Amino acid sequence: MCGIVGYTGFQNATEILMSGLKKLEYRGYDSAGIALLTDNINTIKSQGRVENLKNILDKKQNNDSKIGIAHTRWATHGNPSDYNSHPHSSHDCKICLVHNGIVENYLDLKNKELSDLSEDCIKSQTDTEILVHLIRKFYDVNREISEESFLDSIIMSLNKVKGSYALAIICDDFKDKIFVARKDNPLVIGSGNKENFLASDSTAILNYTREIYFLEENKIAIISPNEINTYDFNKKNVNKKIFHIDWNIEDVDKTGYDSFMLKEIFEQPKVIDNFLNINLNSDFLKNIGLEKKYLKKINHIYIIGCGTAYHAGLMILNLFRNIEGLSASCEFASEFRYENPVIDKNKLVIIISQSGETADSLAALRLAKKSKAKVLAVVNSVGSSISREADYVIYTNAGPEIAVASTKAFTAQVLALYVLYLNIKKILAKENDGKCKEFELIEKDLKNLSRNIRSALKQNNKIKKVAKKYSNSKNMFYIGRNLDYIIALEGSLKLKEIAYLFSQAYAAGELKHGPIALIDENILTIGIVTQDKIRGKTLSNLKECKARNGIIFLIIPEKFLDDEILEMADDIILIKDMHEILLPILANVVLQLFAYHVANILERDIDKPKNLAKSVTVE
Ligand code: AGP
Ligand code: GLU
Repeated sequence: MCGIVGYTGFQNATEILMSGLKKLEYRGYDSAGIALLTDNINTIKSQGRVENLKNILDKKQNNDSKIGIAHTRWATHGNPSDYNSHPHSSHDCKICLVHNGIVENYLDLKNKELSDLSEDCIKSQTDTEILVHLIRKFYDVNREISEESFLDSIIMSLNKVKGSYALAIICDDFKDKIFVARKDNPLVIGSGNKENFLASDSTAILNYTREIYFLEENKIAIISPNEINTYDFNKKNVNKKIFHIDWNIEDVDKTGYDSFMLKEIFEQPKVIDNFLNINLNSDFLKNIGLEKKYLKKINHIYIIGCGTAYHAGLMILNLFRNIEGLSASCEFASEFRYENPVIDKNKLVIIISQSGETADSLAALRLAKKSKAKVLAVVNSVGSSISREADYVIYTNAGPEIAVASTKAFTAQVLALYVLYLNIKKILAKENDGKCKEFELIEKDLKNLSRNIRSALKQNNKIKKVAKKYSNSKNMFYIGRNLDYIIALEGSLKLKEIAYLFSQAYAAGELKHGPIALIDENILTIGIVTQDKIRGKTLSNLKECKARNGIIFLIIPEKFLDDEILEMADDIILIKDMHEILLPILANVVLQLFAYHVANILERDIDKPKNLAKSVTVE
């Protein structure tokens, strides 16, 4: 994880780097640092948030360097401390670098390649620092001061590295150049007028340029104010494709909300309208490039993702299983490779990811491609690694999601998957199976989704009151069956990650097989009941909790409300009636707000929860 940013041009580098770091802080925030190049390299770093670094910089004399690199860290090796913060420098401060990733064989490299280096030259416990000493060693060996020999020393070092990296390197022999390289971690280069930028993702530099080049895997670039030259590891020039990113600047600002999470929750109606406007009446499959001939050959669909993206995958699983001749499974990306999956050209692998950079998801994608399956990516970040490596891409077009807790991206993923399903079903369903009418109904009701989400959002104050009542709860259950169980999983994940409260999502029918032993007057059970065919059963499970003095908070559609429910539930939030497969999306919005308010009442750092980072680019 962690965020890196770099600038070379004619403006004050500190300002641009600090503004970039602030935007990248969602990726990691246990320490931050900056290195500026004038005659020498000047490095300032500190434990804690970017704000700490800013306070230190504010007290220093204005440094008007026009080139620099910076980093906000999510530690993998070595605790968060001033020393372990990036940038890391060679013993003579000639070379300095920032790194996102892991050097897996750093101890080996230290023992074998750097045994001559005195122990006090190595200042940190990080894997990263070994890299800068290695580059310095090879640069020394080459002796000659030339861009090419420096590039050689980087390549020689990286050829010895096992692991992943996005790197930005400066050297005081090259006063206006930044050397960058990537393998398995994201790095974008922003092209400007007499200035160029680099960052872990484009949101950090969108204020300055919309022309973004996504550095390819195993490539190196030399960036100066007027040029961006890219090479492979054999120093052969490679072409670059520039993407124009048209996200709004406001999308990466809080625009009056107290957190990005709340802003992103409230953006959901807009996200839905946007997706449907682009995709509903279009030739959806043709636009993606999925052909009927190919779809007819598929016998299994693997749906893969992590965390919330995995939950979005679960939402579509049973629908795909509805299609005759198709089987489907949904897997954690982190487990997929170790489950001996049967993958061949008749399997379609759907990878779901907001960032498009999650290391586990990327690894699953690569395994699938290696095994000759086609990969369809459902991705939010345009130009991200997963979108570039997949055979087909559906962009969820939710705009940048900054809060660590994923909200609007989930809704957009589920919507995209539903639209995909409806289109595949239309093509593959046998005629006269009697179900097509139902699909027309779903399609029609999709148009009411944003309106009904707005109604759920209007209950914000009521949800806040419920949150206030239960913010002291030590343990909670989220229960539901079928699609409601998936929303229970997602709701519980949200609460854990931002409120740091323990909660467990349980399939409602399983409660009686053990966990019901925990129910007493102190335990809150949140029941999600939106699916007609199993509502009686889930309600019975909730009554079983009530009979043991448990507290019940219920989320149901208006049509289910009756006296029995009123008597049983301590709190109820009603959602609008609509097609069954869309109701869980509404229930989820309620749970997003519930988690948000609980976390807010407990004074948590909503957008940057502890121990987490937005984009998990380590395995
Ligand atoms: C969700 O709130 C999480 N922060 C996390 O589970 C996230 O969904 C997961 O890491 C996957 O990220 P991706 O969608 O960017 O691949
Ligand atoms: N491995 C490096 C460290 O621990 C970089 C971590 C990261 O990419 O998040 O400092």
